[in-house]
Amino acid sequence: MSAPAWRANPAPALGGSIVVPGDKSISHRVMLLGAVAEGPLEVRGFLQSEDCLATRHAIESLGARVEDRGDGNLKVLPPERLMAPSGPLDFGNSGTGIRLMTGLLSGRGVAAVLDGDHSLRRRPMERVAAPLRSMGAGIETSAGRPPLRISSRDRLEAIDYDLPVASAQVKSALLLAGLSAQGRTVVRQPAVCRDHTERLLESLGCAVERGEWGAAVTGPSRPAGGHVVVPGDFSSAAFFIVAGLLAGGDTPIELQGVGMNPTRTGLLDILRMMGGRIEVLRPREESGEPVADLCVRRTDLVGVDLPPEVVPLAIDELPALFVAAAYARGETRVRGAEELRVKESDRIAVMARGLEAVGVDVSEQPDGLLIRGGGMTGGVVDSGGDHRVAMSFAIGAARASGPIEILDVANVATSFPRFEHAAGTLGLSIESLHARHGT
Ligand code: S3P
Repeated sequence: MSAPAWRANPAPALGGSIVVPGDKSISHRVMLLGAVAEGPLEVRGFLQSEDCLATRHAIESLGARVEDRGDGNLKVLPPERLMAPSGPLDFGNSGTGIRLMTGLLSGRGVAAVLDGDHSLRRRPMERVAAPLRSMGAGIETSAGRPPLRISSRDRLEAIDYDLPVASAQVKSALLLAGLSAQGRTVVRQPAVCRDHTERLLESLGCAVERGEWGAAVTGPSRPAGGHVVVPGDFSSAAFFIVAGLLAGGDTPIELQGVGMNPTRTGLLDILRMMGGRIEVLRPREESGEPVADLCVRRTDLVGVDLPPEVVPLAIDELPALFVAAAYARGETRVRGAEELRVKESDRIAVMARGLEAVGVDVSEQPDGLLIRGGGMTGGVVDSGGDHRVAMSFAIGAARASGPIEILDVANVATSFPRFEHAAGTLGLSIESLHARHGT
């Protein structure tokens, strides 16, 4: 039987308004901090996607209770102490879930096995395991990958650590471990990367030192319970920002409640460098995170040579950017993005093959892509089981000269359940091709 696929059709006049679903990164963090808080944590806007539900199930296996009031409204009730789970914790496709949980559990007197699907089992884990071991954690990896075995340790020592890559997952894992360490855990970053852990810790009453250099916490420290509102996910909004620029009609696309944390919105700066017309409306703040509505109008884009320092600020949006670049006048060059090779798929290779399959002139580089704009034809693209690749080609189809069939799209549910429905509201036409029985 083949995996579910889509046929995404050309759709020349997009427009309308949607509320963007909750932020995936923040939803994971809310579950993890809620599980070790001093009191109950009320959450609004939790993303009910497969990745975040895996983290929710993991904290329940560790003794937290979650009262689900529907529609992303939850209450997390932490146990007195986390308890050992009765079986392996399954993080599915989620690198954020498994890496952050590894940090959180390292010093909490709990032994656990952490595992995931075949894609997660290919992803590097020594980047978190090695520095956590130097804090005193007991972590075995399987040749550097999941499954991970964490042994029960009650006490960690603080460290001062220079991140070799600008990874928010590693930074966050160490800060979460730092909550149960003695002393000041300092994590220095080579470039600015997302800071949701720091902001959420602060909004739950933990002292955090932070800046462009990185962040530090002094343990032991425990978040208070309280109330958190999760903003809409900029990474999910990104697909419709690009769709609006490529194929907007007379009515603009309006995206409501979008998280505008500056460590996430590099794509806005890049698209504006390319000439994109995007307005930021009604800026506000919720639970320590900036939020706004976005209004996007069709624009003829021009190619850009991306400054490498923007890469970590747009890391998850680069597949959508590659699609925008395919329609831009001239060349777009992205360098310094080798981290894309260890995401849910090798996003450099998978995007290069996909772009070629729809007639785009693209050269694969070790650390990025060189794309010569000229538009997309119809064709068949293999998403490699990667949610962001699948959604990127789905919006690219809006301006293509024929339908694009996108294979292996089931994992879209890891970050954006009912994406096709939201897309349909804005005028995109994405048909589900049901799983077919083959030989
Ligand atoms: C994330 C950090 C990024 C990002 C991922 C989510 C997070 O990964 O690509 O989708 O929530 O901290 P890295 O930290 O590995 O760059």
